[in-house]
Amino acid sequence: ESKLYFSKELLGWYETAKRDLPWRRHRNPYYIWVSEIMLQQTRVDTVIPYFQRFIERFPTIQALAEAPEEDVLKCWEGLGYYSRARNLQAAAQQVMERHGGIVPDNKKDVSALKGVGPYTSGAILSIAYNQPEPAVDGNVMRVLSRYFLIEEDIMKTGTRTLMEDLATELIPLGRAGDFNQALMELGALICTPKSPQCLICPVMVHCAGRLEGAEDRLPVKSKA
Ligand code: ADE
Repeated sequence: ESKLYFSKELLGWYETAKRDLPWRRHRNPYYIWVSEIMLQQTRVDTVIPYFQRFIERFPTIQALAEAPEEDVLKCWEGLGYYSRARNLQAAAQQVMERHGGIVPDNKKDVSALKGVGPYTSGAILSIAYNQPEPAVDGNVMRVLSRYFLIEEDIMKTGTRTLMEDLATELIPLGRAGDFNQALMELGALICTPKSPQCLICPVMVHCAGRLEGAEDRLPVKSKA
């Protein structure tokens, strides 16, 4: 079946192709959280040095919670979207007050943190705690829409829900964190918005979008 094939091949590919990124070296939920917030609107190459400086300067949730806000913003300078930094600090304070400084490991509490939406909560729960939650961002929607030839408008809520259900179904037992990162990695390295590198794609042979010659026009996205 093409779903089983997809998950198995993608995970196998990820083992050899994954980039050595600083937040992949430890499974510290705080590091994962910071990295996902930074990566929301910023490219990986830009994020790397900011991430390293940030966790050096604020090595723990407590350190971040107690820091002067201007220090946090200073550390974020150049990354843009500064509300991310303010929300992150406010959320660190929430984690200190409500959860004893430990990033919560359930959907209700993680989703209640400032700045944490459905994508980020799924990323934290899967990557940090290996829970079978989907982490569907634009990259993942592109990969899924192509492989499964989903021609619905990704701007529609229903399409997003469909993708989240599909992404959940695809997670191999016990491998949520790696699988979700493998999806992101395929979207970043192979299944790119323009000129996807289908010839070196690990799941090309069963990619419905490719078989249909439709990869270039997927995902379907109405103008906002
Ligand atoms: N983009 C968003 N999250 C990511 C992650 N964990 N690794 C690489 N790219 C990402």
